[in-house]
Amino acid sequence: MQSKHLELSQVGIDFPTPKGPFTALTDVNLKIAKGEFVSLIGHSGCGKSTVLNIVAGLHQATTGGVILDGAEVTTPGPERAVVFQNHSLLPWLSVYKNVELAVKHAMRGQSKAQMREWVMHNLELVHMTHALDKLPSEISGGMKQRVGIARALSMQPKVLLMDEPFGALDALTRAHLQDALMEIHANLGNTVIMITHDVDEAVLLSDRIVMMNNGPAATIGEILEVDLPRPRERLALADSPAYNHYRHEVLTFLYDKQKKIEPVSQHRKAGSTKVKSDNKASKSSDAA
Ligand SMILES: Nc1ncnc2c1ncn2[C@@H]1O[C@H](COP(=O)(O)OP(=O)(O)O)[C@@H](O)[C@H]1O
Ligand SMILES: [Mg+2]
Repeated sequence: MQSKHLELSQVGIDFPTPKGPFTALTDVNLKIAKGEFVSLIGHSGCGKSTVLNIVAGLHQATTGGVILDGAEVTTPGPERAVVFQNHSLLPWLSVYKNVELAVKHAMRGQSKAQMREWVMHNLELVHMTHALDKLPSEISGGMKQRVGIARALSMQPKVLLMDEPFGALDALTRAHLQDALMEIHANLGNTVIMITHDVDEAVLLSDRIVMMNNGPAATIGEILEVDLPRPRERLALADSPAYNHYRHEVLTFLYDKQKKIEPVSQHRKAGSTKVKSDNKASKSSDAA
């Protein structure tokens, strides 16, 4: 494994609060190889988004730092595209124009025809070319998320950072998008860091699952290598002992080793493996 692509060393962060500094993260160390798919999992509030935002350059670590291909990350940059849970499309621009905006920025100086080809290529990757002229308000949540992913990919990022990208979607839409993401990752080979609350999603998509301890002063608890051959098929994996072993490892970490008592969420989504009601550990909804 190449170790020099993306490296988090001794990353820690203190947030100023009225009661004094709050240490959210401490001693986060992680080396990620080029093309690797890593997911971050952990209970709400443990610091997953903070880790991602530090890699994105949106937050500055208080201690340690992040190096991408030999350069320290200090600001946001197009080589680290971010996809958030709530698609951040511009509501007054069509699907096509939302992606074009990013492409215009990334391909300054290139011809209109080249740009158009690139916009279309990225919308094809997420299977959205049928809705080019629709406004965000005219398409479903899953489709908006696809456009957000196309927009991120169109910048040809070295690293794709995804903060619960499918967390707000129903189980079937989520499955379709997971498949689309696996296909894109197989074709493009971007490095991906994805935050998820969904154990099945983490096992299905990841090369490694980074499991975080509860905060404050959260850090990495365990790292699980998911050695399942690709391409991965969700149906075939459902009966695979290896798949179920990985799933069990993550569940054990979350609901035994890092048990966290929280009020039980009002609404639980059907069809996804998230919370077992027979242990008292729970988590807030996946939209946390
Ligand atoms: N800007 C901030 N100021 C103060 N505390 C923050 C700030 N951002 C996050 N935190 C705190 O840091 C911890 C980790 O937050 P976050 O990374 O959002 O968790 P997660 O994404 O795992 O749910 C939480 O306790 C949160 O309240
Ligand atoms: Mg978060």
